[in-house]
Amino acid sequence: MSETIETSSETITLTIDGQEIQAKAGQTILQAAQKNGIYIPTLCALHASKENGLKSDIAPGTCRICTVRVNGRTMAACTTPVAQDYIVENDTEELNDLRKTIVELLFVEGNHFCPSCEKSGSCDLQALAYRYQMLSPRFHYAFSSREVNAESPKLLFDRNRCILCRRCVLAITTEDGKQLFGFTKRGDKSGIIMDEELVKNISEEQAQQAMHICPVGAIIRKEKGFDTPFGQRKYDHNPIGSETVCTTCNGEKS
Ligand code: SF4
Ligand code: SF4
Ligand code: FES
Repeated sequence: MSETIETSSETITLTIDGQEIQAKAGQTILQAAQKNGIYIPTLCALHASKENGLKSDIAPGTCRICTVRVNGRTMAACTTPVAQDYIVENDTEELNDLRKTIVELLFVEGNHFCPSCEKSGSCDLQALAYRYQMLSPRFHYAFSSREVNAESPKLLFDRNRCILCRRCVLAITTEDGKQLFGFTKRGDKSGIIMDEELVKNISEEQAQQAMHICPVGAIIRKEKGFDTPFGQRKYDHNPIGSETVCTTCNGEKS
């Protein structure tokens, strides 16, 4: 499992969807694609930026929405390093249907009532459902009933919307490296737990960061969820995947 990524200066040439691109050795296929303005969907991987408070990219490799075909084999783009002459298929009917299936599974596995969710309009899962034109999921709803924790003075944590991506586990730490969120158990008992003491004392900035890095509405900063009104939220302006990468800054987002 790749979590942070080191790169070197060696140049690699590969092809994504028939487009020849250059990448640095040690980069993942996802990073190489992002630098070249090629969209590969993500839910767990996150590009480092000032906005999300990350100094380096994270790639927990948990969601598989970034699945591509590399020389004919399916691989996760966010954890697979580039290699010379790789032929990568990304935007194909087969892979997009696989991605739609993953989105559907995530919807039925939790409780996602978008009209009543504070993240609606800024939610990556919802935006991907629009992208892949999900109407009614092909699977049965699990009707999960998980604990909602509102004890922290600054955060509301609704496990019914959590997709177990683990972004919060990797990204939200104290200065001395203690994790505020952790992963517990396996299979259908798995879940995210909070360190009650650390979360009780979470700073304003970290509470904001936690809400921001959560791709769905599982972590909501109390009294702040509705700061941006509907109609002005992230995906109210442009659908997911429409972002382009600035070639003059070599894809580095501020
Ligand atoms: S987390 Fe996203 S998909 Fe789930 S209810 Fe909220 S807006 Fe909808
Ligand atoms: S709480 Fe949010 S960031 Fe953390 S694992 Fe769940 S969905 Fe991912
Ligand atoms: S974005 Fe690659 S596995 Fe989640």
